[in-house]
Amino acid sequence: VRNLYLARHGQTEYNVMDRIGGDSSLTELGHKQAKALGEYFKGQEINYVFTSMKRRSRQTAQYVVDNMPNCTVIPLLEFDEIDAGVCENLRYAEIKEQYPDIALERSEDKYGYVYPKGEGYITLKERVDRGLKKALFLSGNAERVLIVGHQAINRMILSHFLFRRQEDVPYILVPQNSLFHIISTQQKKLFELVKFMD
Ligand code: F6P
Repeated sequence: VRNLYLARHGQTEYNVMDRIGGDSSLTELGHKQAKALGEYFKGQEINYVFTSMKRRSRQTAQYVVDNMPNCTVIPLLEFDEIDAGVCENLRYAEIKEQYPDIALERSEDKYGYVYPKGEGYITLKERVDRGLKKALFLSGNAERVLIVGHQAINRMILSHFLFRRQEDVPYILVPQNSLFHIISTQQKKLFELVKFMD
């Protein structure tokens, strides 16, 4: 891959409610963001789009591939969002109320904290690495590849290319109106954040 694009899905019902996990759909704004992402790529063919198995990721990707008959879409389980275990489907405020220990422990070591019956950034790494390897293998020497991921997933993918301290990775900003463009050739490594919508 020469050009790797990394986008997050558009805003979802759960995002609005500050609820985590689940499999909710895009909101009206989310659809607008996805549409703007699609428009950004008009005229520059993407060869492969990798999504997670989640609705929000696939719905977002659909806007990109709609006008690209030669683009292959591949959903990968490895790119599903972090599994918050017992906290899945809760609001952050509810976690604080119902599981104060979880909220506290996680805030003290967000990277190393593993949700009961779920995952943590520390355990996510192996899965995301596997997904990235799979995606790079499947797309071979394609010119342009897009991954439509999730907040925690994109942070892990980004940590591959940006040399961040581990403890900073769970705080990397992953906006829903911008994409990361990573150019990687023998001669140059380039990294840019492109805003495709206000
Ligand atoms: O809030 C959206 C979301 O993708 C959740 O599904 C996920 O648990 C969370 O972000 C991960 O971000 P953080 O590690 O900051 O809680």
